[in-house]
Amino acid sequence: MTKASDVFTLKNNNQVEVTFIARGGQITSIKVPNANGEMADVVIGYDTVEGALAGDTYFGAICGRYANRIVKGQFELNGQEFQLDTNNGPNHLHGGVDGFNLRTWEVEKVDLPQFAQAYKLSLVSSDGDQGYPGELTTIVTYGLTEDNELVIEYDAVSDKDTIINLTSHAYFNLDGAGTGTIANHQLTINADKFTPIDGEIGTVTGEVAEVKDTAMDFITTKAIGEALTADCPQVKLVDGIDHNFVINGYDGMVRLAARLEGPSSGRAMEVYTDQPGVQIYTGSHFDGTEIGKQGKPIEKWAGVALETQIFPDSPNKAHFPEAVLKAGEHYRHTCVYKFI
Ligand code: BGC
Repeated sequence: MTKASDVFTLKNNNQVEVTFIARGGQITSIKVPNANGEMADVVIGYDTVEGALAGDTYFGAICGRYANRIVKGQFELNGQEFQLDTNNGPNHLHGGVDGFNLRTWEVEKVDLPQFAQAYKLSLVSSDGDQGYPGELTTIVTYGLTEDNELVIEYDAVSDKDTIINLTSHAYFNLDGAGTGTIANHQLTINADKFTPIDGEIGTVTGEVAEVKDTAMDFITTKAIGEALTADCPQVKLVDGIDHNFVINGYDGMVRLAARLEGPSSGRAMEVYTDQPGVQIYTGSHFDGTEIGKQGKPIEKWAGVALETQIFPDSPNKAHFPEAVLKAGEHYRHTCVYKFI
């Protein structure tokens, strides 16, 4: 049996090192070199396992059963109404009060030829857990390749029809955790459209809007700070970016979703996924009261999360991609964070 505080490390021949703990499958550090071989830990968080266990439980965690928000925690499936736990004002966020980020995953090292090293994390969530129908068995594989890719593969199966949307919630700062904000990071998002939100809680309106002529336009690479300080109503609502982007050309195959670059270090990361969306969240709720890595306060915009996903509130938006998982069928999701 794995314990919450058990620590696991993935390494490859390029000195890349990914560390995670069993509780929430929380990725607690990712150490990568830049072109000059200078190493840095590029995810924000805490210096110790105790810090991770006591701190923000979404940092680097697997979020589920439904990552992001479901309005009022309600949805209908096969003519039946379901009420999920609410933990975000009147809404359901990241799987509820006791989401997958708080569960201790069973962790096992696996030998897979495509990876330098890999681990399999598994979790069984009972029928009715947080209000969701069906007993859901989830297996998440964390694999590190010799091409400096952290590959996250999700596979889940339920014994009843249900809804699902899993994601990974690491906040990146490619110049290194604790080196300042990500305002200077250059970001490109492969999305002509995004899903606007209706208020400071961040639930989606259901609209699918063009990014063109808004601060959300990252088709051409720009500094995140340009958007953070823009006179844009969508940015002002949440004091940053906390939005789902609609990945161009979605067809269920793995494709480029976004590219991030830390200008001081030259470290870059590309994000690939087979999912239709990516939530970009600039960590606007951090206020410097929590102490993070290197004893530095975790300040507003200290990191940016790039959460590959189905869209927020898809179960209530018929025109959004389908989030239903039929009994006995497999939900599959691949997310690749490639460090360059
Ligand atoms: C959401 C934010 C939320 C955060 C919690 C993000 O995925 O988009 O609105 O505050 O998770 O850590």
